[in-house]
Amino acid sequence: MSPGPAGGGGPDGDHGRHGIRVAIDGPAASGKSTTARAVAERLGYAHLNSGLLYRAITWAGLEGGWVDAGPDEFARRVGELDLELRRRNGEFVVVVADRRPGGELTTRAVSRRVSDVAAREPARTRALEELREAGRRGGVVCDGRDIGTVVFPDAELKVYLVATAEERARRRLLDYDETPTEERIAAEAERLRARDEKDAGRELAPLRKPDDAVEIDTTDLRPGEVVDSIVELARERGA
Ligand code: CDP
Repeated sequence: MSPGPAGGGGPDGDHGRHGIRVAIDGPAASGKSTTARAVAERLGYAHLNSGLLYRAITWAGLEGGWVDAGPDEFARRVGELDLELRRRNGEFVVVVADRRPGGELTTRAVSRRVSDVAAREPARTRALEELREAGRRGGVVCDGRDIGTVVFPDAELKVYLVATAEERARRRLLDYDETPTEERIAAEAERLRARDEKDAGRELAPLRKPDDAVEIDTTDLRPGEVVDSIVELARERGA
């Protein structure tokens, strides 16, 4: 198997492909995006963080005051949104009206609302189109909730990352630059559980482990160990 971005070459059907697709799904703060970014870097692939699309729609909806709009207005606003994914040095970035939102997408205000937005049909359809287009030629490591089940059901490698809610909360607090005291961990774990419940309980593209995914529990693993295992699996599958 040839390594690198041109890997995955094979029979005729692979013409124009840039490599395999790696789908990484799992609950909130399970380490998906950090892991996906590192795996993409090792393989010379692009990282595609699908959560950023839902966060960008949520952020735009909060800014524009239509986040809670009724079905017709919500569909119209999402349809009109000037939103795209652009590939920049091994990473797909979300661009909204020619602006690249940064830290605004990961605030608690956005995190609190994103699961409600992500459950609505116009948001899912819009994100699905953008993600499929970005991954059309392969060579991507995409993380989210429904990547292996809905977005790329034929991905060559599917991984499902899990960790205890407390460990995920501890990591998320460190992302926010907050000291993970016991009390804060308990409160953050509650917020993560609430979001997981919404994501797993919704009708459209709910969070669930794809039948053919490899599950990795990262609770007691160092980030490098998780990355090594996934890179090895990806190589076995043609990356
Ligand atoms: O980083 P974290 O795990 O906290 O969340 P994220 O990956 O940024 O995703 C934020 C939210 O977007 C999730 O809680 C889901 O509601 C939604 N999402 C989704 O519905 N489908 C995806 N493929 C990715 C994210």
